[in-house]
Amino acid sequence: MRSISVLLSLLAAPIQAAVSISDPSDVINPADWAADNALLADYNVAFVETQPSDVKAVHIYSSEAVALNHLSLSADENDTSVILVSENGSLTGSYLDILKTGYSSNLLYASFWGFNAAVNVANSSSAHLDHVNITVHNGAANVYSYGTGSVVHINDSWLYSSGPVSHGLYASGNGTIVGRNLKVYSGGTRSSSFSGDSPAGYIYVYDSVAHAKGVGSATFYALGTVHAQDVVSISEHGPVVFMDGAQNATLVNCDAAAGLLGGVALFSSSDRQSGAKLNLINSKITTLGDIPGLWFGNTIVDVLINSSQIVAPSNVLIVANYSQITQDFDYYAGFEANSDLLPAEVYAEVHESALSGDLVPYNGSYISFSLNSHSTWSGAAYSGFGVGLIDVALSANSNWTLTANSTVQNLTDADTTLSNIESCGYTLYYNSTLNEWLGGQTVLLAGGGSATPV
Ligand SMILES: *[C@@H]1O[C@H](CO)[C@@H](O)[C@H](O)[C@H]1NC(C)=O
Ligand SMILES: *[C@@H]1O[C@H](CO)[C@@H](O)[C@H](O)[C@H]1NC(C)=O
Ligand SMILES: *[C@@H]1O[C@H](CO)[C@@H](O)[C@H](O)[C@H]1NC(C)=O
Ligand SMILES: *[C@@H]1O[C@H](CO)[C@@H](O)[C@H](O)[C@H]1NC(C)=O
Ligand SMILES: *[C@@H]1O[C@H](CO)[C@@H](O)[C@H](O)[C@H]1NC(C)=O
Ligand SMILES: *[C@@H]1O[C@H](CO)[C@@H](O)[C@H](O)[C@H]1NC(C)=O
Ligand SMILES: *[C@@H]1O[C@H](CO)[C@@H](O)[C@H](O)[C@H]1NC(C)=O
Ligand SMILES: *[C@@H]1O[C@H](CO)[C@@H](O)[C@H](O)[C@H]1NC(C)=O
Ligand SMILES: *[C@@H]1O[C@H](CO)[C@@H](O)[C@H](O)[C@H]1NC(C)=O
Ligand SMILES: *[C@@H]1O[C@H](CO)[C@@H](O)[C@H](O)[C@H]1NC(C)=O
Ligand SMILES: *[C@@H]1O[C@H](CO)[C@@H](O)[C@H](O)[C@H]1NC(C)=O
Ligand SMILES: *[C@@H]1O[C@H](CO)[C@@H](O)[C@H](O)[C@H]1NC(C)=O
Repeated sequence: MRSISVLLSLLAAPIQAAVSISDPSDVINPADWAADNALLADYNVAFVETQPSDVKAVHIYSSEAVALNHLSLSADENDTSVILVSENGSLTGSYLDILKTGYSSNLLYASFWGFNAAVNVANSSSAHLDHVNITVHNGAANVYSYGTGSVVHINDSWLYSSGPVSHGLYASGNGTIVGRNLKVYSGGTRSSSFSGDSPAGYIYVYDSVAHAKGVGSATFYALGTVHAQDVVSISEHGPVVFMDGAQNATLVNCDAAAGLLGGVALFSSSDRQSGAKLNLINSKITTLGDIPGLWFGNTIVDVLINSSQIVAPSNVLIVANYSQITQDFDYYAGFEANSDLLPAEVYAEVHESALSGDLVPYNGSYISFSLNSHSTWSGAAYSGFGVGLIDVALSANSNWTLTANSTVQNLTDADTTLSNIESCGYTLYYNSTLNEWLGGQTVLLAGGGSATPV
C-alpha cells in the first residue's frame, strides 16, 4: 500500500508536513490480488476491423433510457460486462455498487470494443453516474465509452481494479468521458488511470486522485485528448502521460509523480507523427528514480511549460530520442522495434517557470528551448549520443545558469550582452555560422566562463 503524499512547505521555515491523500488501495489491499496484478495481456492477437455484434453483459439497456439507484450489480463470467448501454441508450445511475470478476480473453476486443468492461457505454449512448463504486478483478476497465456520440459523465465515484488492461476511465472509437471527484486505483499492467484508444478517446478529469501501480500504467494515456485539472496522481511503473502519435494532453493544477520511462513519455508507435501537444499549466511533475523529466521519441511535439515544475532527481530535464516505446512499455526501443523510426523534434516554450536539469538530444534529434516571461533554467545542453541539436532562446527577463559545458546551434538572447547567462566557469559553445549577431566572437560570461564559437 502506498498513499499518495504531497509535501507542503510552510512559510520559509524548514517545517514540512506530509499530507496524505487516500486512494482505493488503502481500502482493498493490492497484495490480496497479486496474482491478478502479475497477469500479462497477450497483445499478439489478430486485429478485428469491425465491432463484434456479441458484446456480452448481464444488464443490457439498448435503445432505452433507464434510471438505477441504490443497487448492487455484478458479473462474474469472462468477457462479460455488468452493464452495457448501447444504440442510443441512456443510463442514469446513482449509488450503485458494481462488482466485476471474470477474465478478458482478447486484449483487442477489450481495448477496441469494451469487452469485459464493468460498464460499457457504446454506439451514441450516454451515462450519468454518481456515487458509484466500481470494483473489478481479473482485468477489466471500470468505465468504457465507445463510438462517436457516446458520452459518460461520472462524479463522486470510486474505481478499483486488479488485473491487466484495467483502465479506470477508458474512451475509444471517439467516445468521451468526463469525470469529477474520482478516486482511482489500478494495480495491474497496462492499466492507466485515464486512457484513450484508437482512433481517439476524449478524456476530461477534474478534482481527482489516481494511483496506478503496474508496468505500462500511466496516469494519462493520451490517444485523442486528455484534459486534466486538479488531479493528484502517482504512476509507480509508468509515466504521468503516455502519448502515441499527434494527440493533445493538457494538465492544469495537477501534481503527478512517475516511476518509469519518464515524467512523460511521448512517442509515435509507427511512422513519426507531427502535431503532438503537451501543456503543463500550474502543474508539477516529479520523477521517482533515474528517469528524465520529459521523454520524447519518434515524434514532433510542442510543449508548453507555464508556471510549472518538473522535479527530476536524474537531473535530465528533456530527452529527445530516435526511439519509441513498445507494447512492453518498459524500455526505450530502437530501430529493431520499428524501422520507420525518426529523430524526435521538441519545441518547448517555458513561461513563468524555474526549471533545472539538462537538455539531451540523441541521434539527430532536436530540442528548441525558449525561456520567456521571468523563467529561469539551471542546466546544460549536450548531445546524448551522435549528433544532437539544441537551440536556446532567452527573453531579457529570463536566465540560464550553466551546470556543465554546453553546445547550442542557435543561441538567441534578447539581452545582447548575455548578462542573463551565468556560466559558473563553463563554456557555452555556439555555432558561429548560425549566430551572426555574435560576430564569431568569444564573449565572456558572468562566472568566469565564455560563449565560444565553433
Ligand atoms: C454498435 O453498432 C455496430 C454497427 O451497427 C454493431 O455491429 C455493434 O454490435 C453495436 N455495438 C453494440 C455494443 O451494440
Ligand atoms: C440512434 O439515433 C440516430 C440519430 O437520432 C439514428 O440515426 C439511429 O438510427 C439510432 N440508432 C438506433 C439503433 O436506434
Ligand atoms: C475464464 O478465463 C480464465 C483465464 O483465462 C480461464 O482459465 C477460464 O477457463 C475461463 N472460463 C471459461 C468459462 O471460459
Ligand atoms: C457532475 O458534477 C458537475 C459539476 O458539479 C455537474 O454539472 C454534473 O451535472 C454532475 N454530473 C453527474 C452525473 O452527477
Ligand atoms: C467498494 O466495493 C468494494 C467491494 O465490492 C469494497 O471492498 C469497498 O470497500 C467499497 N468502497 C467503498 C469506498 O465503499
Ligand atoms: C471516429 O471518427 C472518425 C473521424 O470522424 C470516423 O471516421 C470513425 O467512423 C469514428 N469511429 C467511430 C467508432 O465512431
Ligand atoms: C488538439 O487540439 C487542437 C486545438 O487545440 C485541435 O485542433 C486538435 O484537433 C486536437 N487534436 C486531438 C487529437 O484531439
Ligand atoms: C499561462 O497561464 C496563465 C494562466 O495561469 C495564462 O494567463 C497565460 O496566458 C498562460 N501563458 C501562456 C504562454 O500560455
Ligand atoms: C569545458 O570546456 C573548457 C574550455 O574548452 C575545457 O577546458 C574543459 O575541459 C571543459 N570541461 C569539461 C568537463 O569537458
Ligand atoms: C535568474 O533569476 C533569478 C530569479 O530572478 C535570480 O535569483 C538569479 O540570480 C538569476 N540568475 C542569473 C544568472 O541572472
Ligand atoms: C552550424 O550550423 C550549420 C548550418 O546548420 C551546420 O552545417 C554546421 O554543421 C553547424 N556546425 C556545428 C559545429 O555544429
Ligand atoms: C534562431 O532562433 C530564432 C528564435 O527562435 C529564430 O528567429 C531564427 O530564425 C533562428 N535562426 C536560425 C538560423 O535558425
